[in-house]
Formats: sequence, structure tokens, C-alpha cells
Amino acid sequence: MFNNIGTDVALAAELLKQGKLVAIPTETVYGLAANALDETAVAKIYEVKQRPTVNPLIIHLAATGQVDEFVSYVPDVARQLMARFCPGPLTLVLPRKKIVPDIVTAGKDTVAVRIPAHPVTHQLLSRTGLPLAAPSANPSGYISPTTALHVLATLGEKIRYILDGGPCGAGIESTIVGFDGDTPVIYRQGVITADDIREVTGSIAHYSGHSILAPGMSKAHYSPVTPVMFTADVDKAIADRPGKSIGVLTYGEYTPGIPVTDQVLLCADSEWSSAARNLYAAMHALDSRKYDLIIARQFPQSGIGAALNDRLKRAASK
Ligand code: TXA
Ligand code: MG
Repeated sequence: MFNNIGTDVALAAELLKQGKLVAIPTETVYGLAANALDETAVAKIYEVKQRPTVNPLIIHLAATGQVDEFVSYVPDVARQLMARFCPGPLTLVLPRKKIVPDIVTAGKDTVAVRIPAHPVTHQLLSRTGLPLAAPSANPSGYISPTTALHVLATLGEKIRYILDGGPCGAGIESTIVGFDGDTPVIYRQGVITADDIREVTGSIAHYSGHSILAPGMSKAHYSPVTPVMFTADVDKAIADRPGKSIGVLTYGEYTPGIPVTDQVLLCADSEWSSAARNLYAAMHALDSRKYDLIIARQFPQSGIGAALNDRLKRAASK
């Protein structure tokens, strides 16, 4: 029945060369990939995801050495960041070359590039030699997928093949960094934190968790169908809603007064990278249980905690 899901890299490469869409595993989330140089193939990504065409795509490459094929200027600090974090969960927004189709950049004069660290997708990129345009493989606005089954559940009927590389290790989307002159600016937070970037570059320009510089960073995103409430005080949120069926997304320890079977512990205290790895699977699981409300506990607002809060805040903004 599920014959469009498997581990066949050669088949995935062949389909991509033919202009078909293939879901691919990365270390962050699953992507919905097409040959970035094939405009007809890229158009299908927007159609399948129901993604607004003003929202540009990230190009995935096998190696940092390919970046200059698509980008016209790479500041020294960007090269330093690539040397430190690529392959890995980092996306750089840089001035584009003409070879990049407008449909990929939504007409912008910059292009987002990333070298994913997942071994299966690295094989695929090397084998095709193609740049792959790939947004997260979810319907626009919904929770991102961190397993092949998440992709199958929401887009399975619309894509030719899902390349299964197991559950994603990082679990939330890549950190996106643009440049103001030669100073890095974070457009989207991720498991590579502002401090990690500052350590390499020495400085960071005005940093805001609400940046609208990346068009996809609209206020509402990553949302389950079930309403989500994002709060530091889960106990009060529950006490204020007697009679409601509630699922709780928390960490450290279970919240008293709610059956543990209605709760998901994302991590032990301070194990924030585990929380990132588990976040979307937990949201998918809680959403499938059809509670009246999902209450998500706020993380400490620093490092990966800030990236997790960013996702939860948007999930609650629908
Ligand atoms: O981890 C990731 O980045 C995953 C995996 C599949 O690589 N991809 C991903 O793609 O999260 P997507 O399309 O869901 O999010 C890409 C974000 C959007 O917010 C988009 O607006 C922004 O990157 N973006 C792309 N090109 C841009 C550009 N030229 N300037 C500013 N933002 C850009
Ligand atoms: Mg996305």
C-alpha cells in the first residue's frame, strides 16, 4: 500500500532528474524537494504545499564548494560560518546569481542556501549533482514533519516518493542567517543559536525573534488543527478551564492534576536539544488525539529555548 515510501536513493535521484517531487530527510525536518533549476518542477512544490508564491525556497547543496555557483557575493563572515557549521542546520541568505530561477527566490535578489548534514540526502545530492529546492514537507502553515510517516500522512498522495532516512536528529528548521553589510542577522532561530553565531563572527546585527525578513516567518505557523495555548503558567491555564479536554506539552516533570497519558514530556530539564528533536512528533501525536486544547509550556528564553518558544508561539497564533 505504501509503495511511495522507501530508502532507494537511486530511484529518488532518477525521479528528481525527471522533474518529479521527492520528500527527503534532513537533520532538521523532512523537505519536499525538486530540481531547483527546473521551474516546472519547483512550481509543483508551491502547488502541493498550497504555499503562497511570495515565500521563497531554500536551495540544498552537496558541498560548500557549490555555493559560488548560485551566489554572487559571499562575505568573509559567511565563509567563516560555513566553515564552522556546514554541513549542518544553517541556512545563509546571500545575493543570488541569475542562474537561480525567480520562482525559487520569489523574485528576490537573494537566495537561501544550505548544506544539509543528513547522510542519505548527502548521497542523493552528490548522486544527482543538482541543487534541490526544498521547503519543509508539510501543507503550508501546518506542523513540520520529522518522520517519513508525518509526510505520508499529510502529503503522501501528492508526491511520487518519500525517501525515508529515519527520524530527524535536530528536529526544528535550520537557523537562517542573512547579512546587513558584513554583519550577520538571524532571520529564523534554530538549534544553532545566536551565541553560536556570535562566537564565530564576533557580532550580530539587530536580532528579533519576530523578524519578518524571511517572508515565511508569518506570525501563525507550525500549527496543529487543535488550538494551542502557549504559557509559562500551565497550572493556572488548566485551573481556568474546568471541563475541557486538555493535552499538555511540557518538560522536566509532569504537571499535577492532569493524567500523564494526556501529557508529553519533551525532555528532562535543560536537555533543550532533545526537546527540539521531539517537538514536532509530540505536536503531531497530541493533534491526533483531538483535545479541546493543547497547552504548551514556555521554555527559558535563551539558546535553543528561544527557538522552541518561537515555534510554540507561532503554533498558538493561528
Ligand atoms: O531546516 C530547514 O531549513 C528545512 C529543511 C527542509 O531544509 N527547510 C525549511 O524550509 O524550513 P521552509 O521553506 O519551510 O522555510 C524556509 C524559510 C522561509 O521562512 C522563507 O521565507 C525563508 O526561508 N527564505 C527563503 N529564501 C529567502 C530569502 N531569499 N530571503 C529571506 N528569507 C528566505
Ligand atoms: Mg516550513
